[in-house]
Amino acid sequence: MKFFVDTADTKEIIELADTGLLDGVTTNPSLIKKSGRKIFEVIEEICGIVDGPVSAETVATDHATMLKEGKKLAKISNNIAVKVPLTVDGLKTCKALTGDGIMVNVTLCFSANQALLAAKAGATFISPFVGRLDDISEDGMGLIEDIRLIYDNYGFKTEILVASIRTPLHVLEAARIGADVATIPASIMRQLFKHPLTDKGLKAFLDDWEKTGESIL
Ligand code: G3P
Repeated sequence: MKFFVDTADTKEIIELADTGLLDGVTTNPSLIKKSGRKIFEVIEEICGIVDGPVSAETVATDHATMLKEGKKLAKISNNIAVKVPLTVDGLKTCKALTGDGIMVNVTLCFSANQALLAAKAGATFISPFVGRLDDISEDGMGLIEDIRLIYDNYGFKTEILVASIRTPLHVLEAARIGADVATIPASIMRQLFKHPLTDKGLKAFLDDWEKTGESIL
């Protein structure tokens, strides 16, 4: 499973990219606002930090304008994935952009039928928002299972990019189901490395090593 980080904070992206385990980045208009920076400047910087897909979202709602925005965003770098919402106009734009060889991440997906339509529109990635479904007592990870089944039934190549992740368990469940990508907030990505027994065990090893008086270097 690929790990993307869900942020427009370049400091966080650099820190995680340095682990060598970061496969891409997703942003959205709210994350751009949170960064306090201009979209073209920050997205260009992010594209220079990671080689993998960097999602940059259109903000128009009509197909013609969304298409113009998508083409302009795609010019930033060859690893741009243009994000469009799961609407009729968004899927028309998805079809047009993928026809031009541009990666498209269809976002704000909340049902399996929506995901089926996005795959038919040629989406590179589909972004179901599991946390926002859980927030209203619906089954976010159940949606991922349904999409995985449907995509495998028909051999769709669209990659399932699990978004709106709230906990490390969302990441675990996504991997169990066979999602292609998880886009993870930086704070949760950092949690994935940690386990108290690892800390405890390492301390015990180093305490014992200290007593040997030995050195490796
Ligand atoms: O990429 C989509 C993601 O940023 C949405 O997450 O926490 O706003 O539901 P959230």
